[in-house]
Amino acid sequence: MNVAVSTAMNDMHTYEPGKGHGLKHDPLTAIVAPRPIGWVASMGAKGNVNLAPYSFFNIFNYKPPILAFSSNGWKDTVRNIEETREFTWNLVTMPLAQQMNTTSAGVPPDVSEFSTSGLTPVPSRFVKVPRVGEARAAMELKLIKIMQLETKEGTKVECWMVFGEVVAIHIDKTLIVDGVYQTTLAHPISRGGRKGDYFEISPATMFEMPRPD
Ligand SMILES: Cc1cc2nc3c(=O)[nH]c(=O)nc-3n(C[C@H](O)[C@H](O)[C@H](O)COP(=O)(O)O)c2cc1C
Repeated sequence: MNVAVSTAMNDMHTYEPGKGHGLKHDPLTAIVAPRPIGWVASMGAKGNVNLAPYSFFNIFNYKPPILAFSSNGWKDTVRNIEETREFTWNLVTMPLAQQMNTTSAGVPPDVSEFSTSGLTPVPSRFVKVPRVGEARAAMELKLIKIMQLETKEGTKVECWMVFGEVVAIHIDKTLIVDGVYQTTLAHPISRGGRKGDYFEISPATMFEMPRPD
């Protein structure tokens, strides 16, 4: 039996998001999961440094590399990036999970999450914003644009998408084997759906499937 037939035979829970999901927990972010985490460091005009995780995040272009994340609400990270037009992205791995979570706490803009989490701000090469010293991969970015999202009717939504171009990439050399970056060696974690759900990326869950020619 192919997948299409088996799905059609199933009893589907169907809902229109605007009218409620009718479940114990909104399944949206559990369906679009796991999501990579954009652990974003930024700096305000006064030099205040900020670090926070954003899972509405991904890479959208290869050459040049363009990353984006969205902020539900005008948060410190977005305001800082609007002010100084730079940020860094940092890889969240299993050993850094707790500290990443600590950096998601709402603290005043003048309090650095590097301090609250005990992480090391390491100077970047091309931007003033530091990167996370403990992160096994990191990128330096310059702002391309900040875009406020809209509904299909053109009504503004309290959500801002930040696009950045990567100007430098840093990789822990032990993650490179025979010239190939090994994703699973770093044990990155990804965001699940409900409040505290995460997935660890490990060699056991990897499989290879080259594209058809
Ligand atoms: C794993 C994880 C992913 C998150 N993803 C997002 C996100 O995609 N968008 C968002 O607005 N907030 C997200 N948050 C919440 C922010 O990290 C949180 O609001 C944080 O305080 C924002 O920091 P800032 O105000 O310093 O920018 C996430 C939190 C966690 C723990």
